[in-house]
Amino acid sequence: MIEDLNKLFEDFKNQLSQVIDLQQLDNLKTDFLGKKSPMGNILRGLKDATPEERKELGMKSNEIKEAMTSEIENKRIALTKAAIDGKIGSEWLDVTLNLSPSKNGGLHPVSIVQYEIEDIFASMGFTVLDGPHIETDYYNFEALNIPADHPARDMQDTFYFENGAILRTHTSAIQVRGMEKTKPPFKVIGPGKVFRVERPDATHEAAFHQLEGMVVGENINVAQLISTMKTLLSEIFKRDVEVRLRPGFFPFVEPGFELDIACQLCGGKGCSVCKHVGWIELMPCGMVHPNVLKAGGIDTEKYSGFAFGLGLDRLVMMRYKIEDIRNLHSGDLRFSGQFI
Ligand code: PHE
Repeated sequence: MIEDLNKLFEDFKNQLSQVIDLQQLDNLKTDFLGKKSPMGNILRGLKDATPEERKELGMKSNEIKEAMTSEIENKRIALTKAAIDGKIGSEWLDVTLNLSPSKNGGLHPVSIVQYEIEDIFASMGFTVLDGPHIETDYYNFEALNIPADHPARDMQDTFYFENGAILRTHTSAIQVRGMEKTKPPFKVIGPGKVFRVERPDATHEAAFHQLEGMVVGENINVAQLISTMKTLLSEIFKRDVEVRLRPGFFPFVEPGFELDIACQLCGGKGCSVCKHVGWIELMPCGMVHPNVLKAGGIDTEKYSGFAFGLGLDRLVMMRYKIEDIRNLHSGDLRFSGQFI
């Protein structure tokens, strides 16, 4: 019977070496260690054996059972590891592989121009501020001298939340937050995304970018406003750009202006981007209305200021000769890949 057990074990090892997956391993385990295994048959013969033989056989069979169990478990570990390695091998994915037409990621053209302008302003002593996209009516309108029911609100229809909050329509909201936090004299800019209910066309989008500027101090005047704007434009375009100033109405400035630049796409001849007038409205600006300064807690007897709102997307379009603002949010890599 000892022979039988040894043979059984040999048989087991033979079959184990041929097992190639976990299913086969489980079957082998049932075959050799389960209730109906040959081991059971051999042990049934024990009843005819002498007590010594029984003892010896009992020990031997336990030894073999343990050996089988441990070999099966070792094999299970090996097979599991091989299965995982196989999966890793066949499903391996190079997450660093870049399939976009451009080889590297890069900044969006609006970000490129925004950071450049931030640098220009920083060199002129301005501080860069930020503000939330979701604003209250107070910061977006009320504190900017645009009370409820003022017709100027029509020009800046926006998206409303149920709790009364709105998506900011202009970066001018940052002016108010800036005044609350800073004591004059100060020079600040606030770039960011703004939102309006617009019918999209070549020059209008529901989400676009502005860059607000505000200078408050003693004896601030229109001449300083214009020279700041001109310095900025010549820095951006690296040459003198033709500008014109027209009166413009914004409740938060008085007097208010529209600063236009000659269309850089057609050189002033007229095209779809400048709506065939040769000029692009780029920078509405003006002297800060005293009501706005008061809302910001500033002494209007002592201080005055100017403010401007730069249309960042338009500037980007002029700089890179982009004919349609909708390209900027298209997410089309053929477009954004050109700026890398
Ligand atoms: N906030 C104005 C707009 O979006 C622009 C502006 C800014 C005008 C600052 C004057 C001064 O239309």
